[in-house]
Amino acid sequence: MDEVALDRERRIRRALQLLRENTTDKFDDTLTFTAGEHVDPVVAERERELIFGRVPTIVAHSSEIPQPYDFVTLQLPRNKVIVARQPDGGVKTFVNLCRHRGALLEEESFTGCGRARLFSCPYHRWSYNIDGSLRTITRGTTFGDIDKSKQGLIELPTEERHGFIWVVDNANATIDVQNWLGPDMDSILEGYGLADLVAVRAEGFDEPVNWKIMQDAFLDGYHIAYAHPNTAAKHIHTNVMAFEDFGRHCRFIAPRKTIDKWIDVDPPEDESLVPHVTETQFLGPCHTLLKQPDHYQLLTFRPDPVHPDRSYMEMRLMVPPQERTSLTPEKWQRLWDKNWEILLAVLHAEDFPLLRASQTGMGSKDAGTMVMGRNETANQVFHREVRRIMAAADDEIAPPLPAISAGVVAPPVVETPVKS
Ligand code: FES
Ligand SMILES: [Fe+2]
Repeated sequence: MDEVALDRERRIRRALQLLRENTTDKFDDTLTFTAGEHVDPVVAERERELIFGRVPTIVAHSSEIPQPYDFVTLQLPRNKVIVARQPDGGVKTFVNLCRHRGALLEEESFTGCGRARLFSCPYHRWSYNIDGSLRTITRGTTFGDIDKSKQGLIELPTEERHGFIWVVDNANATIDVQNWLGPDMDSILEGYGLADLVAVRAEGFDEPVNWKIMQDAFLDGYHIAYAHPNTAAKHIHTNVMAFEDFGRHCRFIAPRKTIDKWIDVDPPEDESLVPHVTETQFLGPCHTLLKQPDHYQLLTFRPDPVHPDRSYMEMRLMVPPQERTSLTPEKWQRLWDKNWEILLAVLHAEDFPLLRASQTGMGSKDAGTMVMGRNETANQVFHREVRRIMAAADDEIAPPLPAISAGVVAPPVVETPVKS
């Protein structure tokens, strides 16, 4: 085993020990928050500008637009965008808007995909090359002299790294994903080899729930036995998390029930326990990456461009390509379709109804403050980081806190809490 694999086994054994002791990693303190953070239009506007206008987020897995001229459209918190694979293999992201009179260039479903040599506007048929440059002005002799080089599509900073396409939702920003991830999370993602996988399924859901309520539910190892007694709780332990804080991102290991055979007997030293855990990475601010024994699941939560009480969740399943498995194409497809259906059923029947109801609850004017437990470590990091990014001066985007190694740690004090 290499050092990374050995470290993983050590961390899993630590999770096993927590399970034996019927406990979990904890922060020193609880964290309070207000309902206003989830319903206030002013807070929502500040989040769109100060978080999503400055921080890289993932818009697709590279395999979703593998060929030149492939593109996807989606709604980001600040802009509707087109993400397009270029002939040289690179990727560019454009605001989905014609620079003539502002028609929507590519009809936008929540996530749509297509293939085009050029983008052609439905209104007066101006067209744009795949690199965003303005190609044709129809009836050009009558239109008047304009500098075509100045009327190309507006481009957003885009970078491909670790098999994902990352975008900062702001034409005036710059992007540096490696720097944003920091050395710990960057090397974790590198080690996962996500660029060699394919996104076998990807889908978006428009929900009447604030994006932070959504994100919190998927960083939560505490609710499983109560909200999912007959589904997820049959497979995964509740409130047992071996946690690590990287200062801007974090991760935790949660044991699956198959690990129970090693509760009373120590597993042999050379026995890998990887098949018995789920590893959750908080990629901050709006992504949770789940490493399951045989695949990865990326969850994304984006605020609605206007309404604080709406968000878009995207779910993607990244798996080894069929050619690299012993399965026939049919069996491979069936395996992941089945997996996907199970995930969807839990989302729609169990998580979403609960979270929609939470959102309506947060609408109460006298909601009082609420509190996150010491055991809700990843949730605390999420809220801590949201507050830190918001509080950062424009030119520094919240430099990461020093990484803290595994165990019981105190969340650093947030100087400037979110106003609500
Ligand atoms: S608005 Fe696009 S061509 Fe006129
Ligand atoms: Fe859940």
